Amino acid sequence: MSTNKFDLPARYQGATKSVWVEYIQLALQYKPLNLGQGFPDYHAPKYALDALAAAANSPDPLANQYTRGFGHPRLVQALGRMYSGLVGRTINPLSEILVTVGAYEALYATIQGHVDQGDEVIIIEPFFDCYEPMVKAAGGVARFIPLVPTVTGRTISSEDWKLDPLELAKLFNEKTKMIIINTPHNPLGKVMSRQELQMVADLCVQWNVLCVSDEVYEHMVYAPFQHVRICTLPGMWDRTITIGSAGKTFSLTGWKIGWAYGPESLMRNLQMVHQNCVYTCATPIQEAIAVGFEKELDQLTSPDCYFNSISTELVTKRDYMARFLEDIGMHPTIPQGGYFMVADWSKLADKVNLSEETDRYSDYRFTKWMTKTVGLQGIPPSAFYSDEHKALGESFVRYCFFKRDDTLERAANILTEWKNKTKTN
Ligand SMILES: Cc1ncc(COP(=O)(O)O)c(C=O)c1O
Repeated sequence: MSTNKFDLPARYQGATKSVWVEYIQLALQYKPLNLGQGFPDYHAPKYALDALAAAANSPDPLANQYTRGFGHPRLVQALGRMYSGLVGRTINPLSEILVTVGAYEALYATIQGHVDQGDEVIIIEPFFDCYEPMVKAAGGVARFIPLVPTVTGRTISSEDWKLDPLELAKLFNEKTKMIIINTPHNPLGKVMSRQELQMVADLCVQWNVLCVSDEVYEHMVYAPFQHVRICTLPGMWDRTITIGSAGKTFSLTGWKIGWAYGPESLMRNLQMVHQNCVYTCATPIQEAIAVGFEKELDQLTSPDCYFNSISTELVTKRDYMARFLEDIGMHPTIPQGGYFMVADWSKLADKVNLSEETDRYSDYRFTKWMTKTVGLQGIPPSAFYSDEHKALGESFVRYCFFKRDDTLERAANILTEWKNKTKTN
């Protein structure tokens, strides 16, 4: 317990160091080629940028004032139209959708709005790193289960990372309030199959558990794989909150608009948290995103629709990165979705001077050494594990491949030169 009056409150202790804060600082200091954070280094769809300029310059004086707290009317209408089609039921835009400050706030409002003191929340590892501190801050107890690669020592698919059904079933009990799933997955790129989702759904129904489905990469899925929304499985709409992100959907992560959708009975709790936390989100940005959705909704089945063309654009980058990682002797996991790739660097450990860094986990030491000495930044995957399982992420590094082709070529050259140089040393 804290003895100092101004210490961080206990509910946030243990969650002081975020990998993002640390690695952004590292990038600013050493200026590496940055394949760390998840965003493109080129422009997003121009119509969205134009829509924001138009919204901000609107002759309507209200266009830049507060809008409806639970979501700008034009945006929730567009989201309602899109998801009604995608989940095959009519979604009420006013009561079944909440617009938030990024998917981050949607997660926060969901966890704060539903997790009470002592409630257990099942989190699948590796996990987007804010899940655990958010559960803890809500008074909940996180229970972890790792995805484990069933094949190692060569290039594999994210499909090869599996949950143990028996271990998963063992985690459910009377205290379980929630399970958080993430598909397509960050950092593995795993797209959960219908069978895997059904296994989760069956346990949720059996134990009366709420499912939070983080689907921020829903439009980035590579054939032949398909994104299945767990809320569409029998009996799941009434117990699922699904989370999305405009930042990911339109490749505009700096806009920080997200949303949650689900049945009114569950959404009410999120509204209370949102209302008493941020109250409302930026009006012109919501307006611009609404314009973006309206445009795409009119061409959803066309290959030109951004939600379709993005995967075509990314799959070439994915395959290019997989090849150069393989060529230098790392073993990548080829993602089925999303825009991250994890690769096993352990075969190259003798080419890195890990003793120059002091971090406890070797993937932190590897990524820091690479940033400072070789000039290429990745993210240490142990950041996506609970303390007890961090060793499972240590032999990997996460790279983002949503970058210009010449950036990826530079990354390939940096790694090849590094490997060749150290070989002759
Ligand atoms: C799995 C996952 N969930 C949520 C988020 C947060 O999204 P946003 O930027 O919309 O807050 C991210 C961002 O990288 C993510 O990867």
